[in-house]
Amino acid sequence: MKFPHPDYDVDLSEEEFRLLRDFVHERFGLFFDGTQRSSLKSRLAPRLGLLGLLSFEDYYRYLRFAPDRAAEQQRMVSHLTNNETYFFREQPQLQVFASHVLPTLKERRAKADKRTLRLLSVGCSTGEEALTLAMILFDSGQFFWGWDVRVTGLDVDEAALEKAARGAYHQNSLRAVNPQQLERHFVSRTDGVRVKDSVRKLVSFRPGNLLDPGSYEGSTPVDVIFCRNVLIYFSDEAIQRAVMLFHDILTPGGYLFLGHAESLARVTSAFTPIRFQGAIVYQKPEKPQA
Ligand SMILES: C[S@@+](CC[C@H](N)C(=O)[O-])C[C@H]1O[C@@H](n2cnc3c(N)ncnc32)[C@H](O)[C@@H]1O
Repeated sequence: MKFPHPDYDVDLSEEEFRLLRDFVHERFGLFFDGTQRSSLKSRLAPRLGLLGLLSFEDYYRYLRFAPDRAAEQQRMVSHLTNNETYFFREQPQLQVFASHVLPTLKERRAKADKRTLRLLSVGCSTGEEALTLAMILFDSGQFFWGWDVRVTGLDVDEAALEKAARGAYHQNSLRAVNPQQLERHFVSRTDGVRVKDSVRKLVSFRPGNLLDPGSYEGSTPVDVIFCRNVLIYFSDEAIQRAVMLFHDILTPGGYLFLGHAESLARVTSAFTPIRFQGAIVYQKPEKPQA
């Protein structure tokens, strides 16, 4: 059989759009509304071309029933996500993390004589957010002796995670990094910069769909979740699912940071919002609500 060219044009009918939209939404939470039909089509058309499929309906069947459907779903979603990220993104939130959340957690843990700290960057993309958290932990100077500290980065896009694992970055990722941070945490390479091993060793990356409880196995409970600039692409229903999962895996009194355009106001009252200048952090109550 002669495969069509990867850029070949094929129609996406209203019915096919609905099938694919609902599949993507149900499985990954990402929601494409009617105005994004041509965007969905142009992002997925290359997959049809490479698989030698002649219609989006065939592609839908492939995603559901082909023996390698899991791998194809993975490839598909990496065509649909936005991976934009950079180090030290959204300073006011990071300030709250450094000056309120870390000292509070440290004090709480010291009282309980339990020196562990678990942080999770959900939708970590190419790793800048998880590594930024590790840099802040490092700079706090508070969690060295006798502490077991781990930052995990989770993302559904394995191509992004491969970059994260390489730990090599370019100017675009460094736009909010100041000269002191650059000097302290990065080493120069001919082709950009690399994060120092002292920071990298605190961080691990793993593939996973944030809506799948199995994605968190072995790395729970967690004290702090950063899930920023991920849920803006989700439906309200999927945000609800995600946030309730986060609630389940957080320690009592644990914290959730969302992107500055994302809010739980209309989603759930299971968290207590704590307002700071320029930032909100959501806290899971220390005791279960009545
Ligand atoms: C715009 S990036 C945000 C990166 C980082 N959190 C930040 O704020 O700089 C969004 C990331 O969310 C990931 N993502 C989207 N849906 C996901 C899902 N269902 N499970 C895990 N990751 C997902 C995408 O692959 C993408 O890398």
